[in-house]
Amino acid sequence: MDDNHVLIFDTTLRDGEQVPGCKLNTPQKIEIARQLEALGVDVIEAGFPISSPGDFKSVVEISKNVTEPIVCGLSRGVKKDIETAAEALRFAKRPRIHTGIGTSDSHIKYKFKSNRERILEWAAEAVAHAKKFVEDVEFYAEDAGRTENEYLARVCEAAIKAGATVLNIPDTTGYCLPDEYGAKIKYLRDNVPGIENVIISAHCHNDLGLATANSISAVMNGARQIECTINGIGERAGNTSLEEVAMIMKQHPRLNLQNRINSRLLNPVSRLVAERMGMLVQPNKAIVGTNAFAHSSGIHQDGVIKNRETYEIIDPLEVGVDESMIVLTARSGRAALAFRAHKIGYNLTKLELDKVYHIFLNHADIKKEIMDEDIHEIIAEAGINQHQEV
Ligand code: KIV
Ligand code: ZN
Repeated sequence: MDDNHVLIFDTTLRDGEQVPGCKLNTPQKIEIARQLEALGVDVIEAGFPISSPGDFKSVVEISKNVTEPIVCGLSRGVKKDIETAAEALRFAKRPRIHTGIGTSDSHIKYKFKSNRERILEWAAEAVAHAKKFVEDVEFYAEDAGRTENEYLARVCEAAIKAGATVLNIPDTTGYCLPDEYGAKIKYLRDNVPGIENVIISAHCHNDLGLATANSISAVMNGARQIECTINGIGERAGNTSLEEVAMIMKQHPRLNLQNRINSRLLNPVSRLVAERMGMLVQPNKAIVGTNAFAHSSGIHQDGVIKNRETYEIIDPLEVGVDESMIVLTARSGRAALAFRAHKIGYNLTKLELDKVYHIFLNHADIKKEIMDEDIHEIIAEAGINQHQEV
């Protein structure tokens, strides 16, 4: 694999599905997994097989239904979990077990009532056990974001020695700042023997709205896998959003990082996940929100009508949106009104436009948005009897 290639590990069907009320059934999961394959993700985390018979079945069926991506199953660092994950993955062409344990002092003390030395052994035992079933074992150090770097390095070293192929360094609580998380990845690269032979993975949560920034900081510091979800869904405030990291790498050639995502499918896949999960995407969400390519203020509209690049850094077609929207509101100017009127067949002269614009503003102050049918009415109200050219 090329040194600058960043693997996209999609966990929509595992961490994403942990969103309250967003449960999917097996056929829906298969449908989404197929679309993720078409989108070009490298790894699909299909579920947490020990968690329920339904999740077990979904991992089995997804393993049968996708061929290109690695199919991954989550397990705690517990023998029974690992064996159940291995069993669920038996039909996968490229199976991966994702196992691990909490490594921060708070997890060690409160969750495990244990100590650092025992957790170190436990991590190695979990990886070694998973290795009996599959070649590809990803180790997660849960709450790595709040784990002291020196100890984390020792845990990572033990996991590598036990056979881990991927090291996941989760910022489970979304606490890290981008420079801090990037420095953590760099520290591990510089201090863990054998780390050059494994892939370092970023898994960031969005509790402070920093998941995407932290993931990008990680790949700038040598991580080569990003764990993310469609629409950024996931536990609490969510996970890193797939569409954001994929497009950041694409829009910033200076990063010199590539991924296999077919960006034209980003919006269709976003809509599919939103619909199946019954979880609406916030309108101002980057890349996939309904307003991501909508312009509503007069100054912006005038610029975009003259040249799209004045206010758009992404061609909407590149992410599967047919065209930008010029939304008519009381903040819109004459250029936008003339543009929209032209689209529905009117060629207004300057004088006509002045007249129509005046009436338009009165309507727009009352209505939130002026639609095409309103434009017909406004033009008629202005007494303009122009033949539409459509
Ligand atoms: O956020 C997290 O730490 C996780 C692990 C289980 C990988 O989701
Ligand atoms: Zn997570």
